[in-house]
Amino acid sequence: MTEPSPSVPSTSVAAAAGTETKDSWSSQKYAKNASFVPVLGAPVLKLLDPQPNEHILDLGAGDGVLTIDLEKRCKSVVAIDSSAEMIAAATKIGCKDAQVVDGHDLIEHPLANGQFDAVFSNAALHWMKKDPVRVIQGVNKCLKPQGRFVAEMGGHMNVAEVRSQLHAALRKRGVDPEPYDPWFFPGAKTYARMLEENGFKVDSIELIPRYTALSTDVAGWCDTFGFMFFKPFEGDEKQRQEILEEVQSNLRFSQDEGVWYIMYVRLRFKATKIN
Ligand code: BEZ
Repeated sequence: MTEPSPSVPSTSVAAAAGTETKDSWSSQKYAKNASFVPVLGAPVLKLLDPQPNEHILDLGAGDGVLTIDLEKRCKSVVAIDSSAEMIAAATKIGCKDAQVVDGHDLIEHPLANGQFDAVFSNAALHWMKKDPVRVIQGVNKCLKPQGRFVAEMGGHMNVAEVRSQLHAALRKRGVDPEPYDPWFFPGAKTYARMLEENGFKVDSIELIPRYTALSTDVAGWCDTFGFMFFKPFEGDEKQRQEILEEVQSNLRFSQDEGVWYIMYVRLRFKATKIN
């Protein structure tokens, strides 16, 4: 599998309606609507370069599709995710060791025992917004000295056009959007500093723009992935529809020949635990 070119519409995102939080996402919907997530994980798996004798922790493993791939390439994988439903799905498809653990809690968890050769994470760290430093500290505690932390997450300017429109729509209705924005999309310098201040040497870190074609429209994407922004209007379907239409109308230039696009920006990095 190859990395899609940043300038070519190569990613098809099958998003469909849904208003669940990430924790309550049904694994079936996840498989249907976010099947591109593991597919696009190939470059970060390559950067991890797992070895047959290694013990690896998969942080934010989702439904375990990438974990299964990882299991074939190393000695053992522990998959963790904050969603019990995702972990059930991961177990169902054959993940050998899948546990419900929130990345924020790793630091105090028995898994933080300095036994892992590497911690791997794909498309999950940006959901761990509450305390990203604590997450990094937890990862550090899981690793052996010289252990690797290799990950890809949403980075600075990720989905910025849609995010800005969602913020504007809430503000227009007298709601402060900040508490409802679930994402942490750091820049490369910011995240490198956070890693360095918490026991890591940064081997590589880069922002990668990924011009992404949707197989739905922008309203469908917001409905699936921007669910948190609709919390203040719970039960008010009319208001929700109005916001979806407003956001899509304001983003009409994101459509070309009937296909809708969003500019994703990935932050991909490899860091090594010092000492
Ligand atoms: C991402 O993978 O970058 C992403 C996924 C869902 C919502 C926002 C960003």
